[in-house]
Amino acid sequence: MKVILVFLFCVVCAYARVTPDYFPSCKRSDPQIEKCVLDGLEAMRPRLREGIPDVNIPALEPFTVPTLKLDRTAPNLRLKATVKNAKAYGGSDFKIEKLKLNLNNKYAGELKLTLPRLMVVANYDVKGSRLLVLDINGKGRLRGNFTGITVLAKGIAKPISRDGAEYLQVDKIVSKVRINHAHIAIDDSERPQAAASAVSFFNASPNVVLDILNPLIEETAAAVIKAFVNKVLGSIPINEVLTDDDTPAA
Ligand SMILES: *[C@@H]1O[C@H](CO)[C@@H](O)[C@H](O)[C@H]1NC(C)=O
Repeated sequence: MKVILVFLFCVVCAYARVTPDYFPSCKRSDPQIEKCVLDGLEAMRPRLREGIPDVNIPALEPFTVPTLKLDRTAPNLRLKATVKNAKAYGGSDFKIEKLKLNLNNKYAGELKLTLPRLMVVANYDVKGSRLLVLDINGKGRLRGNFTGITVLAKGIAKPISRDGAEYLQVDKIVSKVRINHAHIAIDDSERPQAAASAVSFFNASPNVVLDILNPLIEETAAAVIKAFVNKVLGSIPINEVLTDDDTPAA
């Protein structure tokens, strides 16, 4: 019995404060809550490169997406692709241009960030696809440099209860993405010639292709951001990052 009680107590105390001290904590009623969050993020930036496993924050250098399934039909586009082991380098150089939070009886937020440059590598498998008149089917490895990236994300989160604690989870998120310039290279193991033509076309007019792909890029960005944010929020109880007025800020 005693052993069980000690064990239970330790489970409780382990959960008492799971977030490390350097994790930002802001007062719900702070009139400058955005500044508090931004300062907190800035303080964490060096740790974001390698990630913070204790609170489930994945590494940003590189930022890894194990699998992405894309399936989309749009004007000038028929795309069915599996992307595996995508790695993006440069994500930790994000600059937050704007942050707006609305915590009055809800959890709504708007974030605008820019990335000077993102270097991406990924394995792809594309079948039954076409972009404009280009045959883009094949299988191989893609490398790409994307510069001048702007992301605007708007989302709403909801509190959920788990094991007696409240956590926030993003419910809906939409994103707008703009990419100024891109340059790609491909090693295709199945159809190297078709791939070479597609790559020359892309590199000659990246903005034409990026415009066609934009709805897909925005949807994918929203899904990746949602998964990332929910992973982080799912391991930090709300009351540890948003303190009430009667509790002293950590
Ligand atoms: C991307 O940029 C790096 C560094 O400037 C360069 O080495 C690489 O060849 C570029 N890759 C592509 C696909 O343009």
